Formats: sequence, structure tokens, C-alpha cells
Amino acid sequence: MIQYKNKELHLDNISVGQLSKDKATPFYLYSFDQIKKNVKMVQEVFEGVNYHISFATKSNNNLYLLEELKNMNIGVDIVSKGEFEAAKLVGFHNDEVIVNGNGKTLEFLSELVDFQPKAINIDSKEEIERLEQIVNTRQKEVSVAIRINPDVDPVTHPYISTGLKKNKFGIDMDSAKGIIEKYNSHPYIKIKGLHLHIGSQLLSVSPYEDAYQKTHEFMLSLKEHGLEFVNIGGGWGIDYEKNGNSFPLDEYKDRVIPILKNINLEIILELGRFIIGNAGVLVSKVEYVKETPYKTFVVTDASMASLIRPSLYNGYHHMYPQFEGDNTEKVDVVGPLCETGDRLAEDRDLSIPNHDDLLVICDAGAYGYSMSSNYNFSFRPAEYLLKDGEIKEIRPREDINDLVKYYKVNK
Ligand code: LLP
Repeated sequence: MIQYKNKELHLDNISVGQLSKDKATPFYLYSFDQIKKNVKMVQEVFEGVNYHISFATKSNNNLYLLEELKNMNIGVDIVSKGEFEAAKLVGFHNDEVIVNGNGKTLEFLSELVDFQPKAINIDSKEEIERLEQIVNTRQKEVSVAIRINPDVDPVTHPYISTGLKKNKFGIDMDSAKGIIEKYNSHPYIKIKGLHLHIGSQLLSVSPYEDAYQKTHEFMLSLKEHGLEFVNIGGGWGIDYEKNGNSFPLDEYKDRVIPILKNINLEIILELGRFIIGNAGVLVSKVEYVKETPYKTFVVTDASMASLIRPSLYNGYHHMYPQFEGDNTEKVDVVGPLCETGDRLAEDRDLSIPNHDDLLVICDAGAYGYSMSSNYNFSFRPAEYLLKDGEIKEIRPREDINDLVKYYKVNK
């Protein structure tokens, strides 16, 4: 997707200079071809399995992209009222919607009971009790899945590990058994599935193998109680560092797929990053390069407001200057916000760009825009989709009206 041609960077064979013409920077740009390739890779791994992909909307909530995914027969995993409304607007069928997250409010649960999603994933005993109150009063059935916390170490950044017993998510297996016994013949709560998501940005197969092996017998034992599907979560990592360390698909196919096939139930796979992460870049402009006696700072118009992963997780995002240089220097790439943590890269080897050159920040398709903010009253960037050689604006850049629309001036 990204390569230099005649010393200028090209994305899907179009120069970034050309792509950026008449566009305010920074902006997000997604490649439809790359999304399709990623989906195809997943399909190849799951060939022969009865499965369904549920896209983790939290990784990217652009409605046009959701629509493209829907057209590829992909459903959505949602975690909030906002994502729920987005899914409805795009027209996802209730059967294509899985509801995740903890702390679901009574109002939200009640709306979900009307909508009848494929499953509400239950995160705790307290949550199923909450849901019980609602369905008993309304005398309406609802399908749920019980989220298990299998207590396995996903070997990833601690902020994005979810399946350890010290993490806030899911229910330990013993308590889950108790819940399933209790609600097994409930008139309105129908336990149709089990769910386990152990973390995000995993680059090894072993944690999945451990988690599914640990819960395998439990899954089989629930078949006679009417279990219909197992939601195996998401979390497949991507090669942010561009050093060939990508998710080992072949190994997954050899070691995990047989376990899943053996369960012989419908499998739901909740991927976000693997589908959209490397399909998106953040195109920024270099304002200038600041030299100090200690360091060189490349100052861009992208910031922690447009991409927070480097500041929040020390996340690495590879960067390409618009023009290929012969030498590199160690630099910090920083944004313009009033915060030391507004740093996109530290001590990075980069060929020094000129002011006004573009700088392309890679692998920003997942948890990029969706985690952006208005810090310092920054405008969120525009998003564009490159499809069939055409570039289309799929969300405009915010302007001051978006930021002040709550403010009524009564003069
Ligand atoms: N399913 C559940 C229940 C999840 O909580 C998540 C992500 C996913 C699926 C999708 O995971 P993925 O396939 O995208 O790894 N903001 C962090 C990532 C947080 C992930 C939260 N849950 C980041 O920027 O790295």
C-alpha cells in the first residue's frame, strides 16, 4: 500500500502530494483495497469453520466504513449507546449486532431488549440481575452470552489486556457455571453463547490456544443446555514496527482452528485492529523542524488529539516523510498541543523533512480517529476513503461550529 516511487511516497500508487491536494491536514485516509485484503486473510484462516465476523466498532466508527464492511457480510460489536445508534443508522440487522462492554445502564439494556441483538454479552452477575429485572417486568425474551474471564496472560500492553483475573472484564469460570445453572430455565433470559476476549494487539497464538483449551470442556458441556455459539473475541495484532512481526496466521490455522472446529458450534470473531489498522494512515504536515542543543524536534500538525496511541500506550507508529531522504537522524516527532506528552515518536530515526512537507503516520486505521479528542479545542481531522482509484470524503473535518454548538449567545 505504501511505497516510494521516484523518491516520493505513494499510497495505493497515488503520490501523497496528489492525494493531499486541497485537503486540510492532518487527515485520515483509508485504503479499501487493504481492508479487503485483510478480510480475505481472515476468511482464508477460517475456511471450513461455521463463523461470522463481528467488527469491533470501537476501533473505527466511521459510518461509511461500517457500511462497506456490512456489504462484505460483516456484523458489528458495539459497546455503547452511540455505537448502537451508529449500527442502526447503517442498517445492521439485529442478528448482526453483538453488545459488549460493562456497566450497561438500565435504559440501554431496556432499548436492547426491544432491539433483540444476536447477544448481549453479560459481564457480571450484577449485570444479568439488572437485565432480569427488565425482562421480567416486560415479559420479553432476550439472547445473551456469558463473558468468561479465562485468566490467561495475553502478553500485551497492560492497558489492553482483558482476560486476567485482575482485569475488570468477564466472569470467572466457577461463577459463570453458577450463573448458567441459575438462568438455565429462565423464561426470558436465553443463554445462547459464551464469550471470551483476552486482550488486544496479540502477536502470538499461545494465549488464544490456552484460553480456548482452558474453556473447551466447559463449552462442550453447555451444548446440551442449548449453547449455540462461542464468541472468541478479537485482538489479532498488526506489525506496527514494520519488522515482520505480524500475527502468525498459519500457526493460528494449525493450532487454534482445530480446537474451534472441535467445539462444533457457530464461532463469532470480534476483530477490529486486524481489519482496519494497517488500512489507515494519518497524513500530517511538518510545520517546521526545531533544533536545540539537545534534540531535534519535528513539529507536525498531527497531535495527541488526532492520534493518542503514542502518548497513551507509548504505541509505536511507523512514519514516512513525503520525500525519501538519504540520511536519517534521531528526532522526536511532536504535535502543537500544550503538553509535553504530545509526542508521536521519541528518538526516532527519520530523514529530516522540510517545512510544509507531509509526514505519513502509518497503521492509524484502528483506535486512531475513534480515540481522537478536542483537547486544546482541536478540530478532529477529516477522514477519506481511497477506493477504485477515487478519493471520497467520508467524514468532514470539524470546524469551530462543531465545537461551540452547545453555546447559546443571548444578546
Ligand atoms: N472484543 C472486545 C470485547 C474488545 O474489548 C475488543 C477491544 C475487541 C473485541 C477488538 O479488539 P481488536 O481486534 O481491535 O484488538 N485502544 C487500544 C485497544 C483497546 C481494545 C479494546 N477492546 C489501542 O489503541 O491499542
